[in-house]
Amino acid sequence: MEVIHTVAALRSRLADEHQVALVPTMGNLHDGHIDLIRIAKPRAACLVASIFVNRLQFGPGEDFDRYPRTLASDCERLAQAGCNIVFAPDEQEVYPEPQEFTIDPSHIQNELEGAFRPGHFRGVATVVLKLFNMVQPQIAIFGKKDYQQYLVLKEMVKQLALPIEIIPAETVRAPDGLALSSRNNYLSPEERLEAVSLYQQLEKIRNAALAGRRDFSALESEATYWLNAQGWKADYIAIRQAADLRKTDVSSRKLVILGAARLGKTRLIDNVEVDLS
Ligand code: PAF
Repeated sequence: MEVIHTVAALRSRLADEHQVALVPTMGNLHDGHIDLIRIAKPRAACLVASIFVNRLQFGPGEDFDRYPRTLASDCERLAQAGCNIVFAPDEQEVYPEPQEFTIDPSHIQNELEGAFRPGHFRGVATVVLKLFNMVQPQIAIFGKKDYQQYLVLKEMVKQLALPIEIIPAETVRAPDGLALSSRNNYLSPEERLEAVSLYQQLEKIRNAALAGRRDFSALESEATYWLNAQGWKADYIAIRQAADLRKTDVSSRKLVILGAARLGKTRLIDNVEVDLS
């Protein structure tokens, strides 16, 4: 496996590659990321994983500075998983000058995560478009743990007519159900035990909907109340249409239940899908 740090070296290495898959990451890899590699591997002659902690998608006071940078161990894991190239540019390589041209995603960017992290999806879409231009992959894999990010990027590729196939990957969970996330590393042992409650509340809503309940606002409020009573600070628990995150109506069948909440200093997000048809 090669580790490449500059766009020039990457372009020259990829010049003769015709089936390139990209797995964009911010590093500090866990089994969820390795699953993205596993999904990409059989679909590409050349598999590139990018590692770049993107300042543009972090708001003031968020964890950009303390986000774990673990390039050496990440490279070991990627090599074992069969990755061909790690593209690990530094900030100067990605943003050699202030990024004045940015990508503004559709209405989705101000909802849910976007409402609590203003500018986040502009930062994500902008860096992902730059990574697409640098790597020029035919396919790219994104985990559905960041469901809203996946929809934003799928829509960006569609509306900008980018010749890239976006492949979603299911969320990988710990044995107790907690969605794997680099931010789980911030949790204390006690918080780690409690952390699965977010997923359990989403599952509870899912099961209630499958059992016939349609009072979605009440289900959202119950879960929010329960989490807050357990010491969480819930940002949102929301039942939305899976295709576009719009609010549900009586005809909605394919739904996604999303949640974001703080446990101590750590903000966790998760979601589960449900098909009522
Ligand atoms: O999901 C992530 O790790 C990041 O948001 C991404 C897609 C690599 C962009 O920085």
